[in-house]
Amino acid sequence: MAISAIIGGQWGDEGKGKVVDLLSSEVDVVARYQGGANAGHTVYKNNEKIVLHQIPSGIMRSDCICLLGNGMVIDPIELVEEFENVKSKGLEVKNVFISMNAHITSPIHKLIDINLEKKSNNKIGTTGKGIGPTYVDKYNRQGIRSCDLLDKKSLKNKINFQINRALDAKQITADQLDNIKNEIDDFFNACKIIAPHIKDIIPIIHENKNILIEGAQGTLLDIDHGTYPFVTSSNPSSGGIATGLGLPLNKIDRLIGIFKAYTTRVGNGPFPTELFDDDGEKLQTIGKEFGATTGRPRRCGWFDVPLANYSIMINGFSEIAITKLDILDEFNEIKVCTEYQCNGEKSKNLSAFINQLEDIVPIYTSMTGWNCSTVGINSFNQLPKEAQNYVHYLENILSISIKYISTGPKRNDMIKR
Ligand code: GDP
Ligand code: IMO
Ligand code: MG
Repeated sequence: MAISAIIGGQWGDEGKGKVVDLLSSEVDVVARYQGGANAGHTVYKNNEKIVLHQIPSGIMRSDCICLLGNGMVIDPIELVEEFENVKSKGLEVKNVFISMNAHITSPIHKLIDINLEKKSNNKIGTTGKGIGPTYVDKYNRQGIRSCDLLDKKSLKNKINFQINRALDAKQITADQLDNIKNEIDDFFNACKIIAPHIKDIIPIIHENKNILIEGAQGTLLDIDHGTYPFVTSSNPSSGGIATGLGLPLNKIDRLIGIFKAYTTRVGNGPFPTELFDDDGEKLQTIGKEFGATTGRPRRCGWFDVPLANYSIMINGFSEIAITKLDILDEFNEIKVCTEYQCNGEKSKNLSAFINQLEDIVPIYTSMTGWNCSTVGINSFNQLPKEAQNYVHYLENILSISIKYISTGPKRNDMIKR
């Protein structure tokens, strides 16, 4: 399979975990390059649902090496919980390796994240996982990296420095610190448990020929190319791969964009095709659109072509996957936003209005639904004609080939073309 990347094309939760789980049978290594415990990637082991946050979805295959790249921010407490969770499902964690240069999220970072959100007049709706504050420390050159976990004394000093700095800056209060004392103890214990997994992963990245790169979040949440400031603090788009793994872009053979057959967003920020009517509620109910990390309801809307055009352009996707086609099974009419209108101007690419998305009027085209079940179908010809038309329509309007169509949450509910 060579070196391929799976990247979220929209606002995250496109079904990246499921696609990685399917394609990981063809590779030796699955690697994450950004983000942290803010991600929630759902996979199934037989009928049992597993939600992964930091461990790449390659964990489902016992012989697969799972790498957590230097561009990630690692939460030791949550990682240990995740180790326990996957072990309880009969999976092994011996092949999970953390880059020695990945940054570490502490309980202080999480507290700062939650406090910032409480105080803000312009709430982002973060996952509260301490992602922003950890990346702030990284770029301030005051971060704790996973290599620092190997020296217990220096780690204690670094955490104390972090605590005092947060108290001085009134980012946390003494009472709050008191409340997380146990969590800080847990943190040091968790650091000890994950320490044996810390490694120089550069040789693994450069000596293996079959690697699947797993993105977290989505392009419109990218700190540089997303709907700033309503974004995450890393680069989920393909640009993040080179820095987040030490893997030059010219080594990547396939960049696969994952898009839902409609659009969802969790957290705040502009969403041009968001629906506030019965159709929106129906997408949410049928699609079970609740965040895999926070359980918050996801906002829902129709497929957005200007957004997808932008995402395809920014990432350089060579092909795309469309997921959750089956969620549209019960709609008589399916709409697609083909163009944006803003202050009398029109554009088929979101970049034209990226800083005015609140003022967008989406222009829709309407398609006939198929009104029958597509769940589990895995051959394109077996799809009802209207569903085939929907896929062909998207393929033509986006000028990109749709290589995979997902028709259910399970690994094999997939059409490969
Ligand atoms: P990720 O963060 O991109 O990995 O996506 P999430 O796991 O957060 O959200 C995707 C949700 O949709 C999960 O509950 C998946 O089990 C589910 N899912 C993925 N693909 C399909 C599909 O084709 N049909 C249905 N019905 N569910 C799907
Ligand atoms: P996966 O990998 C969907 C959103 C949050 C918030 C914004 C910033 O499962 O697709 P953060 O905690 O990162 O500082 O929050 O980003 N967000 C996600 N939305 N899927 C995710 O991950 C997300 N990770 C963060 O809801 O709006
Ligand atoms: Mg998710």
